[in-house]
Amino acid sequence: MDTFAKEVEALKAREDAVILAHYYTDGAVQSVADDVGDSFYLAKVAAKTGRSTIVFCGVRFMGESAKILNPSRRVLLPSAEADCPMAHMASPEQIAAVRARVPGVQVVCYINSTAQIKACSDVCVTSSNAAKIVSRLEAKDILFIPDDNLGGHIAAQFPEKTFHFLGGYCPVHAMVTAADIEGERRAHPQAQVLTHPECVPSVRAVSDFLGSTADIIAYAERSAESEFIVCTEPGVLWELRRRCPSKAFYPVTPVCGDMRRITPERLLRCLKTGEYEVALDPATAEAARRPLERMLELAK
Ligand code: 13P
Ligand code: SF4
Repeated sequence: MDTFAKEVEALKAREDAVILAHYYTDGAVQSVADDVGDSFYLAKVAAKTGRSTIVFCGVRFMGESAKILNPSRRVLLPSAEADCPMAHMASPEQIAAVRARVPGVQVVCYINSTAQIKACSDVCVTSSNAAKIVSRLEAKDILFIPDDNLGGHIAAQFPEKTFHFLGGYCPVHAMVTAADIEGERRAHPQAQVLTHPECVPSVRAVSDFLGSTADIIAYAERSAESEFIVCTEPGVLWELRRRCPSKAFYPVTPVCGDMRRITPERLLRCLKTGEYEVALDPATAEAARRPLERMLELAK
């Protein structure tokens, strides 16, 4: 065990803390986490941990969701600034306007959203459970927020429903173009393209597999192929290479600057000082708990 890992272990025991890390964080951070996963997996782990402190190595909405699902725990974020820009790409006013215009509409909110937006929604989803949850909704009209790209990918699977969108997107995944994929395919003609549904439609259309970060890892692990172009945040390559050491992975997506704010130094500082604790307005947290718990229920 290196010095960093030893220091983390000692502080974790002192603070009765569990460390959760998203696949997009730095490999050094993932290596000392108790659990590493995609948004859905980490939300489930956070909801049932017995430890008194959760250190969430991820962006703000992940720490907020942990606090909402397990309110008696202290939830810490190593960086106060790590905040997903897409989480803010919908507003209560826009949601209210659609509800007024479309009677019976169900508001399906990607977990990559602020607590305030969740509080105005009917059910939350992640990229690993969105299709299952939408399949369990009776409503014909769905307002899918804030990600038009994940929403478009899900809408294509439910032609009998009418989807409404508000124009949000992930600035990191949306940067990848179909020309980038073609260039990578020319360089690696044997490789399969594995893509997160947060990518734009023209990129999704030229991909071999679409899925959440956990789905992408599972696909690469069980595939008989040995080369993959990975079209999601390159932090995921750490786990891909750990699980599949004999396979080759070629990243094509830029890093998410917000996820990369979670450095080993900031993780240590967080464990030492207790900064930054997630604090939510109680009424907002209460209202946001309902759609998050409904997600856990419908995804079973
Ligand atoms: P998943 O964890 O659902 O794959 O989502 C990716 C993401 O953008 C998290 O910020
Ligand atoms: Fe948000 Fe995109 Fe970064 Fe995920 S990768 S945290 S959706 S900006």
